[in-house]
Amino acid sequence: MAVPPAFLEELRARLPLSEVIGRRLRLVRAGREFAAPCPFHNEKTPSFTVNDQKGFFHCFGCGAHGDVVGFVMRYDHLTFPEAVESLAAAAGLPVPRTEPEDRRRHEHRKGLYEVIEAAACWFEQQLRTPAGAAALAYLRRRGLDEEAIAAFRLGYAPADRGALRPALERAGFAIEAMVEAGLLKRPESAGAPFSFFRHRVLFPVSDRRGRIVAFGGRLIEGDGPKYLNTGETPLFHKGQLLYGLSRARAAAAEGQPVVVVEGYMDVIALVRAGYAGAVAPLGTALTETQLEAVWQLFPGRDKTPVLCFDGDAAGRRAAWRAVERALPLLAADRSVRVAFLPAGDDPDSLIRSRGGAAFGAVLARARSLVDVLWEMETAERRFETPEAKAGLKAVLEARIAQIADRTVQGYYRGEVSRRAQDLFWELSRSRRRPDHPAMAGRGPGRPGALRLVTGASATPRPPRNASHRWHRLLLATLINHPNLLEEFHEVLALTEISDPGLDEVRHALITRADGVAAVGPADAGSALREWLANQGFKDLLDDLLAPGTYESHRFAAPGADDAAARRGLADGHATFCRIRIGRELVEAGKRLGQDGTLHNLTRVVRLRGELALSDPDSEEPD
Ligand code: UTP
Ligand code: MN
Repeated sequence: MAVPPAFLEELRARLPLSEVIGRRLRLVRAGREFAAPCPFHNEKTPSFTVNDQKGFFHCFGCGAHGDVVGFVMRYDHLTFPEAVESLAAAAGLPVPRTEPEDRRRHEHRKGLYEVIEAAACWFEQQLRTPAGAAALAYLRRRGLDEEAIAAFRLGYAPADRGALRPALERAGFAIEAMVEAGLLKRPESAGAPFSFFRHRVLFPVSDRRGRIVAFGGRLIEGDGPKYLNTGETPLFHKGQLLYGLSRARAAAAEGQPVVVVEGYMDVIALVRAGYAGAVAPLGTALTETQLEAVWQLFPGRDKTPVLCFDGDAAGRRAAWRAVERALPLLAADRSVRVAFLPAGDDPDSLIRSRGGAAFGAVLARARSLVDVLWEMETAERRFETPEAKAGLKAVLEARIAQIADRTVQGYYRGEVSRRAQDLFWELSRSRRRPDHPAMAGRGPGRPGALRLVTGASATPRPPRNASHRWHRLLLATLINHPNLLEEFHEVLALTEISDPGLDEVRHALITRADGVAAVGPADAGSALREWLANQGFKDLLDDLLAPGTYESHRFAAPGADDAAARRGLADGHATFCRIRIGRELVEAGKRLGQDGTLHNLTRVVRLRGELALSDPDSEEPD
């Protein structure tokens, strides 16, 4: 398409660059220019600038540079003619057509949009005719009111295969256009083209710009596929579009969550429940192009939609496919999270039976991609032999190798190997101690089998290593022996606990330290436990104070006397300090090797001194 240069000038004049970009990014004024983090590469400090006087944007980080058309092309992923088209629409100007061929093609496409729009209106009307009564009743049964029917422009395609054509012909549309738009189908043998959708409820599908380009038709009764979608047409490629896309763009711009679900009805239920960022693929598993389109919805840096799947086996398989599809495409700040619905529900049925808040809870339990990857590869499997362990590493490595972005790949590798180490360590430990809490919930006789955590039971297990076990022992001992709280106040305050739940207990104990002195000695332990339970730590306490915790550390148990508990804690603390100092010493030694400065030498000497001061004979806490 040849656009007259004068028209491009007109567009640039009417649409200040900062206004066009400002609608898509948050711009901050910087002198005569505007600045923002660059949308074309990942960065923390803004090096993307917009200059209205010059009419150009420029990124000092990645070199991206261009005018208003160039920006819209890159940002909205449009071709040049599409970008001009889009900007002209924003400016309220018709695009002048120079070449007859362009004009013809443009008119042709425009004709297709128009015929589909006319059909959509006609389908809406059919819902109000006697023939549409069953369809309307069906929608009502599914909980849709007038407002929803109007907002989503739901319609009805009558059973009569010859009804649509004359109606559209009367409005001036050619049969050829109806066929091309996917509204009519040509019979295999001779005969007039007939309606593609018959006796179905219709869900109009809009493109990125909100123009209807296709329909999904749901069976109301009888046999046939549950949903039928418009086939490929010049305006509609089902693997590239999502249901709800243009609404979701506006919602995402306002910071609402972007949620990918499976069906038309799910999107409608979510939008009505306040989740306007809901989209669904159109009868296929999420494609790469669709995933890219979803990422493009986000105006900011962190692009992480939540993919929702049913809680059943089919949903897990679908999740797996989506994970496989997403891995190669991950980049800095560009990922997906995965949420599973309670078994037996889809978002529509969940919201209908338990309200929008129930879906909010599902979203809140969404797992990061690395969690899901890890769980899927470790679920229901045993890693007791060296071969099985090597097998797990190999399969995870193969997955991670799929990640194209080197930096992201590196972090995945680190994260996953850390988890594998924790898991193997924990397994060898639980084999030695069959009643250790690490075994809880694993099912009898199935050591090492992890359950795939989904839905309501989704609580990620923190890694358990030596320091984790010491932190548990420290807290358990102090809860069972509140008389020692004051004495170990400082130890508590100086201990860094990485497990968030345990760290909250630590804080609670610190704030409680003074008040506890008032509790009588006989029931001090139970009073403190009760108080903690009331603070919301009940489940955590059940796990923390299970008998396994005391097995090799009698002093921690409620029955042990305070003097034994004091000795136990003091030894444990000393050992832990030694371990920490030892680790720091190794680090410092390395640094000294690389860089023999006086500063590094002093550090090594100081740490050696500290290590010598700590008691070398105390037992190592387990
Ligand atoms: P589901 O079978 O999960 O149905 O299909 P649903 O969305 O819950 O539908 P309702 O609630 O029974 O009406 C999910 C999506 O898969 C596509 C449709 O896009 C549907 O919304 N689909 C399903 C098809 O394209 N064809 C089919 O035959 C079935
Ligand atoms: Mn459904």
